[in-house]
Amino acid sequence: MKKTLLFLSVFIFAVILILDLQGKGKEMMGGKELFGKLSDGTNVYLFTLKNSTGAKVTVTNFGATVVSLIMPDRNGKMDDIVFGYDSLDGYIKDNSYFGTIVGRYGNRIANGKFTLEGKQYQISLNDGENMLHGGRVGFNKHVYDARFSKSAKGESVRMTYISKDGEEGFPGNLSLTVTYTLTSRNELKIEYFATTDKITVLNLTHHSYFNLSGNPESTILDNEVSIDADKFTQTGKGLIPTGIFQDVENTPLDLRKPVAVGAGINKDFEQLVLGHGYDHNWVINNYNGKVRKAATVYDAKSGRFMEVLTDQPGMQFYTGNFLDGKGKNNITYRSRTALCLEAQHFPDSPNKPQFPSVTLKPGETYRQTTIYKFSVK
Ligand code: GLA
Repeated sequence: MKKTLLFLSVFIFAVILILDLQGKGKEMMGGKELFGKLSDGTNVYLFTLKNSTGAKVTVTNFGATVVSLIMPDRNGKMDDIVFGYDSLDGYIKDNSYFGTIVGRYGNRIANGKFTLEGKQYQISLNDGENMLHGGRVGFNKHVYDARFSKSAKGESVRMTYISKDGEEGFPGNLSLTVTYTLTSRNELKIEYFATTDKITVLNLTHHSYFNLSGNPESTILDNEVSIDADKFTQTGKGLIPTGIFQDVENTPLDLRKPVAVGAGINKDFEQLVLGHGYDHNWVINNYNGKVRKAATVYDAKSGRFMEVLTDQPGMQFYTGNFLDGKGKNNITYRSRTALCLEAQHFPDSPNKPQFPSVTLKPGETYRQTTIYKFSVK
């Protein structure tokens, strides 16, 4: 009897020790856990970054994708405020770019065509007659190498991917690093770094869909949005810019002061009709390569406030007009229940010499910093 009791207590102690060690190990590796496997057997992981406020971000190395982002509301209640899927399979089939890094060229290139140093390139088409977000298989569908790290700035996961010369039609072997950091001030900081071995074009962005209320079934029409921009890139057919920077003054695209999304979205304004709502690129004021505040979103229900800071010239503001499909927790995501603020260069820049250049040459480095900062009011 005594022996059995002794054996039982040693056994229980050992189980507790193993579980505890596993927990610590998981923590040290950024909560790395298996998310799933691709059909060729490649393992895909989830990494969870935490800070002392209780905020958490989970990222997968499939597409360098933010899978969940947990932030407090004004009462300290924690909610997931981004759209996504419960399983890897959802991300494999996704065509909404939920939470992903978008490349090699975020946004549209007219007819998927451009010329560099006299040579014409044709990128695969996936948006009618145009290319959208890098062509048929963009950076959102590749597996990155990923490494967790911890520093005074916060917990980070560093993702690397090599895009081969000719991938989707783009020239040059492009080596890309994307680092996500969750800081102690509830900032999700995204730093990009890339080099090429042949002249190429590059326009990277992040595509999280935010519903700051934490209720993915409520629309974002009552969210107040501001974008620090006097102009936007006027769009034509297929949402390709005409090349004109149009004044926001006296239009529903004037978001220089916070405005409820629903106030102007259904106005009979040609640009909004073309975009089926907001789906435009704003020309952020004071572009000089430095990080500055570009946009804000406030959800009065939860008190959550998001600021977007970036060193990019443009901001695509998209109100989830085309949303319609099942996401996390079996919820059907409907039109205008989330919004995206995608810091980037202007659409179709390779064909618009008057726009800031998106060309990257061997020996040059591409860098971008974009920060999503969360607080409450
Ligand atoms: C971007 C585009 C939208 C849409 C989404 C993805 O924001 O501008 O038109 O294609 O990506 O669904």
